[in-house]
Amino acid sequence: MPNPLSCSGPHKWATKHLQVATEMVHAGVEPEPHTGAILTPIFQSSVFVQASIETYLEKGHSYSGSRNPTVAVLEAKIAALEKAAVAYCFGSGMAAIVTTMATFLRHGDHCILPDGCYSTTQELARDLFGQLGVTFSFVDFTNLAAIEAAIHPNTKLIFSEYPTNPTLALTDLATVSRLAHQVGAKHVCDSTLASPMVVCPLQFGADMVIQSTTK
Ligand SMILES: Cc1ncc(COP(=O)(O)O)c(C=O)c1O
Repeated sequence: MPNPLSCSGPHKWATKHLQVATEMVHAGVEPEPHTGAILTPIFQSSVFVQASIETYLEKGHSYSGSRNPTVAVLEAKIAALEKAAVAYCFGSGMAAIVTTMATFLRHGDHCILPDGCYSTTQELARDLFGQLGVTFSFVDFTNLAAIEAAIHPNTKLIFSEYPTNPTLALTDLATVSRLAHQVGAKHVCDSTLASPMVVCPLQFGADMVIQSTTK
């Protein structure tokens, strides 16, 4: 095992040799520069002072609605756990899902969802995006042929849930990713119930993963 003291410090050593448990403790955390606090404080300020217009955003923050130092550490930890390049936190899981659908779907587009997925996701699809001219197919994701058969030329998003809540159905994430990419669609996986302790959907080709962190 490498000697922690031979690197530039235990923190740097930990970030090089992370297991899941150490990822959760160390990822994204740097000692706070003003006081040296090892753990990131909870920054409650909504606004951050700027020294001048010329140096705007020099310290990386202006308004917590866009970026907040405490949330940034949580985002870095979640990205490390999911083995993702980047993570973004939202006020709730549904806020993340509505933003994802609004990002990938336009009037005339088609999206495929698991038939037993989280009820509010189904309602969001039918009641909001359905009214905006997006069509949805609710399919049994344990049946890969059924997913393939549901793909249309205008399919832009395959939204899997791993596993589905509440029916706990699993799917083959790698095949779902391949099917999506074959037609130029995105594969987004809501793996709230599994969490990155069990599966990292990005490693199976998903383009994006969603977690409702209250679970
Ligand atoms: C699989 C799944 N996705 C999304 C959500 C929504 O998350 P939130 O309650 O944080 O909006 C839930 C909530 O139970 C869920 O189970």
